[in-house]
Amino acid sequence: MRSAKDFFRPLAVGAPDPVREVPFRPSRMIHFFDPGNEKMAAKVPSLAPKADVLLGNLEDAVQADRKEAARAGLVRIAKATDFGETQLWTRINSLDSPWALDDLLTLVTEIGHKLDVVMVPKVEDAADIHYVDRLLAQLEAKAGLTRPVLVHAILETATGVANVEEIAGASPRMQGMSLGPADLAASRRMKTTRVGGGHPGYLVRQDPNPEGDELPRATYQQDLWHYTIARMVDACAAYGILPYYGPFGDIRDTTACEDQFRNAFLLGCVGAWSLHPVQIDIAKRVFSPEPADVAWARKVIDAMGDGTGAVMIDGKMQDDATVKQCHVVVELAEALAA
Ligand code: GLV
Ligand code: MG
Repeated sequence: MRSAKDFFRPLAVGAPDPVREVPFRPSRMIHFFDPGNEKMAAKVPSLAPKADVLLGNLEDAVQADRKEAARAGLVRIAKATDFGETQLWTRINSLDSPWALDDLLTLVTEIGHKLDVVMVPKVEDAADIHYVDRLLAQLEAKAGLTRPVLVHAILETATGVANVEEIAGASPRMQGMSLGPADLAASRRMKTTRVGGGHPGYLVRQDPNPEGDELPRATYQQDLWHYTIARMVDACAAYGILPYYGPFGDIRDTTACEDQFRNAFLLGCVGAWSLHPVQIDIAKRVFSPEPADVAWARKVIDAMGDGTGAVMIDGKMQDDATVKQCHVVVELAEALAA
């Protein structure tokens, strides 16, 4: 029987690892749909050419009495749809639910040959990934699959964050990890009632004027998710897997969504979830390097010759470290353009 160790994990673009064998596939947005919802399901074929990843969601947001219908709907849609270059993922129910086992059993058996990644919610430690890994290996062997189904963990419990490194390195199947800000907020007993994004109360205020006058003081809103995203990015980079921002629930606030996605991109994330078609375009724009940044990066690379030493360009010092940053930008742009 093939074991998970036979398979290579997809490495982050630019990761210096000679065993990279999985071709790069963009995943700037993971677009969620409810496979049990007839209206949404009917739109899947038209979304396939637009989204990098389409994800049939079986977990939260699907009512308990519609779980079987959603699972059956995903099987039906997957069999009927040509996804082309677009990846098909699913989010199964959590491992402590009555549905997770049947989710894996049905999906791998019926549509395993079309399924790229299984997203596992509320992952707490490496043992959760080992359990899924073993089940997948058995089900793949039974179904005669020749390509591994990869695993993506949602980081959305306080325990999961505490164990983020062991989760990232738990299996060669690990494809990546997403921040799950809504469940994480509840798990940490934060006092928000949102799906991702900021909060007007989470701010710092400008110091008082030393002269003591009564001028209004500016306030600066802070990012609630910076710490967790940074931890997740480091864990993912250390193990050669991909980090993602998760959902942004205020669909109408496209500006704040773009800001949150861009923060994640700048910190190292490769994509985010999209909960509405409008967020597909936002993610595509944000998670693709700006042409001006790519042009600048190429200029630095050209000027740096063999990549060592230091040069001044437009008054800015460039050296071995900046040229590495520039390679990250150019490699991503080239991979997306290929
Ligand atoms: C996503 O699943 C979240 O909880 O934010
Ligand atoms: Mg969640």
